[in-house]
Amino acid sequence: MTDRPADEPALLSDTPEAAPAEQSARRALVIHPILREDLDDRRSPESRLEEAVGLTAAIELEVVAAECVRVTRPKPATLLGGGYLEEAARRIAELGIGLVVVDHALTPVQQRNLERDLKAKVIDRTGLILEIFGARARTREGQLQVELAALTYQRSRLVRSWTHLERQRGGFGFLGGPGESQLEMDRRLIGDRIIKLKAELEEVRRTRGLHRKARERVPYPVVALVGYTNAGKSTLFNRMARADVFAKDLLFATLDPTMRSIVLPSGRKIILSDTVGFISDLPHHLVEAFRATLEEVLAADIILHVRDAAHPDSEAQRADVESVLGELGIEVETDTRVVEVLNKIDKLPPLDRDALVRQSRRPDGLVAVSALTGEGLESLFNVLDRRMVAGRDVVRVSVPVGDGAAAAWLYARGEVTEREDDDDHSHLTVALEPADVARFRDRFPDYLVTDTPPLVERVAPESQVQAS
Ligand code: GTP
Repeated sequence: MTDRPADEPALLSDTPEAAPAEQSARRALVIHPILREDLDDRRSPESRLEEAVGLTAAIELEVVAAECVRVTRPKPATLLGGGYLEEAARRIAELGIGLVVVDHALTPVQQRNLERDLKAKVIDRTGLILEIFGARARTREGQLQVELAALTYQRSRLVRSWTHLERQRGGFGFLGGPGESQLEMDRRLIGDRIIKLKAELEEVRRTRGLHRKARERVPYPVVALVGYTNAGKSTLFNRMARADVFAKDLLFATLDPTMRSIVLPSGRKIILSDTVGFISDLPHHLVEAFRATLEEVLAADIILHVRDAAHPDSEAQRADVESVLGELGIEVETDTRVVEVLNKIDKLPPLDRDALVRQSRRPDGLVAVSALTGEGLESLFNVLDRRMVAGRDVVRVSVPVGDGAAAAWLYARGEVTEREDDDDHSHLTVALEPADVARFRDRFPDYLVTDTPPLVERVAPESQVQAS
């Protein structure tokens, strides 16, 4: 059986009636191959296609057509079947399409053969993700990481297709064809560039390490936002920080961590860190390449897993994010730092919201919000406040004005959330480890230490998970 489009091709933009149109590198055809091996995936092919279209549009390509293609017997040389390719090549020429995105992994040989058959540039899913990461990198380190990952990917393609060509040449007797030296040179240039990039990256990381050291001296807890691409991390970050971070309806608007310091309702200061959007099928070597970018997450005190609760594939996206976190060494089931934030509840009917909230796997482990309307934000802040003091004693200490040592000790060891000064004393509310409370009493026996009610009881009673 030959492959055929699973549906009639969906034309997503006005296409010229008169054919053939001039071929344009920005006009794209997106193909999602449906393979039997992928059928146990929890997502429907249609929604995977939709995601691939979203990703393609995110790098400002014009998606002219998009289709799912059933592949009953994957062909080693081209993945897709000959009948389908012939028909697709005709449409590609007619519609002036210059780029074909195949939403699947392709071997270098398959990519090359497809380019030959379709007479257009072909990129696979990894190539697409690299393009997106490249377009979105905002810091020098991010840019270097992407370039390095892209070159490594490209070099593997060059090497392998070169070997393939060699074999072909051997077979057909085209010895010393013109391509050979060019490929050799490309390979060497890429190798040189990779060495330079690694050195530069090392230098940038060293400087960043210095910055991080400087920040470590600020004893504020770090709260990191992670989530599937387009879950609403940047929007939530902006809501929480009232900062103006690049947020628009493009997938992968975030690549490099962005940090802001914010003040919780209790007066506690935290650092909020927005991170890269995750995606399914993120190739392992890409996770490795972006490990440094995600270091902020590893070091965070609290990890907010932002989810698009209104997305039909919300559960599958959750599993994808959790598996990337797992690769980074964060086991969501047991890591108490993770809080799930169900975002976009404004898009859900009230009954569905209630059902979602009831699924909570642990108390305080789930908050429902809308980053767009601000609903549920207060609950989120309260959960953060509660998490911060968990395990700590909140005490009030009155330190005589002029005793810099005691105040400095408290600021260094604990977290001062309130301070009132009168003529003689500074009255501080401090969250301290119980052992530090005892140490303070030993060291400064004359100063009053009173236990205050835990912060949890002082925040609004509606601070339980709030659904509406
Ligand atoms: P990446 O950078 O791709 O990882 O995306 P992100 O997770 O940072 O998503 P972003 O904040 O850019 O939001 C993606 C889209 O979802 C934007 O169009 C937002 O306006 C929209 N959005 C975010 N939060 C909400 C929400 O609570 N409700 C609704 N209805 N839309 C939202």
